[in-house]
Amino acid sequence: MQWKAITVALLAAAERGAGQGTTPMMRFGCSQLVVDRIDPLVNPGQAPSPHLHQIVGGNSFNVSMDPATHDLPTASTCTSCTFSEDFSNYWTAVLFFRARNGTFKRVPQQQEIGLSGNAGITVYYIPPATGKSTVTAFKPGFRMLVGDAGRKSSTTPAPHKVCHRCMPKSGDKSNINCGSPDAQTLPKDFCAGGIRSITTFPTCWDGKNTDSPDHMSHVAYATGAAVNDVGPTGKCPASHPVAIPQVMYEVRWQTELFPKSEWPADGSQPFVWSTGDKNGYSQHGDYVFGWKGDSLQRALDARCTGDTCKELKTQTVAEADKCTRAQTVREDVNGWLTSLPGDVMVM
Ligand SMILES: *[C@@H]1O[C@H](CO)[C@@H](O)[C@H](O)[C@H]1NC(C)=O
Ligand SMILES: *[C@@H]1O[C@H](CO)[C@@H](O)[C@H](O)[C@H]1NC(C)=O
Repeated sequence: MQWKAITVALLAAAERGAGQGTTPMMRFGCSQLVVDRIDPLVNPGQAPSPHLHQIVGGNSFNVSMDPATHDLPTASTCTSCTFSEDFSNYWTAVLFFRARNGTFKRVPQQQEIGLSGNAGITVYYIPPATGKSTVTAFKPGFRMLVGDAGRKSSTTPAPHKVCHRCMPKSGDKSNINCGSPDAQTLPKDFCAGGIRSITTFPTCWDGKNTDSPDHMSHVAYATGAAVNDVGPTGKCPASHPVAIPQVMYEVRWQTELFPKSEWPADGSQPFVWSTGDKNGYSQHGDYVFGWKGDSLQRALDARCTGDTCKELKTQTVAEADKCTRAQTVREDVNGWLTSLPGDVMVM
């Protein structure tokens, strides 16, 4: 399997970077649950929310998801993820192609190398490279956000390890995700293998709050972690002493389906996030924890790697693909659209 070669490359790089043995990493596919203009984390109860998202995971996803009452594992009847005890929800903005005539077409997605499934997100949970320290899995009600949908330039502080990669026609690159030449900005050139967007969440938690008003302050990035580290490395600050697994999303946008001949005459890149952002700074990822019981903790403790884990129940890709949800905000997201959903302006 090809992804194994890539994992091996990541492991080798992790060893070089962190010098602490091998990094196990859970890496699995979650197919598309729905593409919808709601955001229960940032805009709870608001339908439509300002911009369009693509969502995977448990089918209890809805516009409110009040953490006090909404228990994802009991409210869901299926999940679009490989591990069938994972009813979490994972979501990101959506990438669009802007044609010369000004209409927009949603860029199709595919699972990352070695995985299959209907579109969606490739999800990672990465414990520390060294087996000596353990991580604490999330508690029910835990949620977090990385990135800033309103971010317009590189002048405001950069989110850690949220970036884009111009993918080669086949295989991967040898640098670690978000190491140069990956960039926060969308690639300027045609990418023969599409664009991978990467969202890496913090690895330290305050140990008390499952959320915070900005959905970020209850978690923090470790200090002393090198740019190319994989998983929770460095030292958690005293304010956020509890090491949590590193959650990472990879989304493969099939931008290669839009040939250069259809790009703007001036050669500028034609892709735009559903936030209206043509530069790439607004990329963000949302996470609502929803694993059943202690399943995630058991899988992390067993240092499971890839998309098989004897601690966990799995389902087939066909079963995962079957788990979908109707849109809450009924609107066309598949045709050639005269404006971005929500009439979001491109800036
Ligand atoms: C969201 O899901 C919860 C739990 O299943 C349910 O109680 C609530 O009514 C739902 N809200 C909406 C707006 O569908
Ligand atoms: C706009 O351009 C796209 C891509 O070339 C094409 O498929 C679509 O039909 C065009 N729409 C209109 C209204 O001309």
